[in-house]
Amino acid sequence: MPRRREPPDDELIERLRRALDILGLKHTREQLDEHLAWARKESPGHAELLAQVLGEEAGVRLARRIERRLKASGLRERKTLEAFDWNFQPGLDKPLMLELARLDFVRRNEDLLLTGQSGTGKSHILQAFVVRACERGLPARYVRCVDLLDDLYAGLADGTYRRRLTRWGRPALLVIDDVGLGQVRKRDDEPTAAHGLFNLLDLRHGRTSTALTSNIKLSEWGRYLGDATLAAAILDRLAMRALRIDIDGPSYRQHIAEQRGNATRPSQDDEP
Ligand SMILES: Nc1ncnc2c1ncn2[C@@H]1O[C@H](COP(=O)(O)OP(=O)(O)OP(=O)(O)O)[C@@H](O)[C@H]1O
Ligand SMILES: [Mg+2]
Repeated sequence: MPRRREPPDDELIERLRRALDILGLKHTREQLDEHLAWARKESPGHAELLAQVLGEEAGVRLARRIERRLKASGLRERKTLEAFDWNFQPGLDKPLMLELARLDFVRRNEDLLLTGQSGTGKSHILQAFVVRACERGLPARYVRCVDLLDDLYAGLADGTYRRRLTRWGRPALLVIDDVGLGQVRKRDDEPTAAHGLFNLLDLRHGRTSTALTSNIKLSEWGRYLGDATLAAAILDRLAMRALRIDIDGPSYRQHIAEQRGNATRPSQDDEP
């Protein structure tokens, strides 16, 4: 049987480039020469060639997508559970935390409340959860409580409160960090910060998952949020609905500060 006449290489490659442009496969387009050189050298099977080329394009796109999600998440730092020193915090139930890090509680639309003294790693853990969520394609947002309340408060002034509330209501996982830190703004003739938080938690409950951290006693939430009754209503709901974890242990911040202090303080051996 006569061999099918193949078009010359240059013509084929030009056709390939055009196709890649139309398909928007930018990475493959840029790497085409490398791919072809590899194929000539290794003579892979057909499926292997396709898997290599398309796999690389898919990998690059996935990494970009994760990066976009991370940028949109509001995280200022990208903490990881791998960097968490579990031995430092032996009171914390590591298997439970690793189980939570699988984010099934997010898929089940459950809430989480992490309490404990300052520096015990509450923010670290929940920031790591947001990173995980972004990597797994779950829409996630991180916000400090005081910034969230400020945002809702600004909505009261310019008539965008509802729109802002809806936006905060959307992510599958919303981490509200550091309830109790910072100065919550109040104005007598308008709904308090507690209203904003209450409305948001109510909007999200059962539809999405909210995880909060706090280093103040739950009994102090009323004073912090400016409305004891609403704060009690929030806590009542959280107590009923949320998984509660208290980190009873030392401050890592203090531990680092002490280590620095030891490192800079001259030891007795250095003294003349
Ligand atoms: N067990 C740990 N292993 C490694 N780093 C830790 C650990 N615990 C805390 N850190 C680090 O210590 C610093 C303080 O921790 P983090 O901000 O999570 O504390 P926090 O409980 O949220 O405190 P606060 O109540 O003051 O907000 C962070 O840089 C965090 O990454
Ligand atoms: Mg914190």
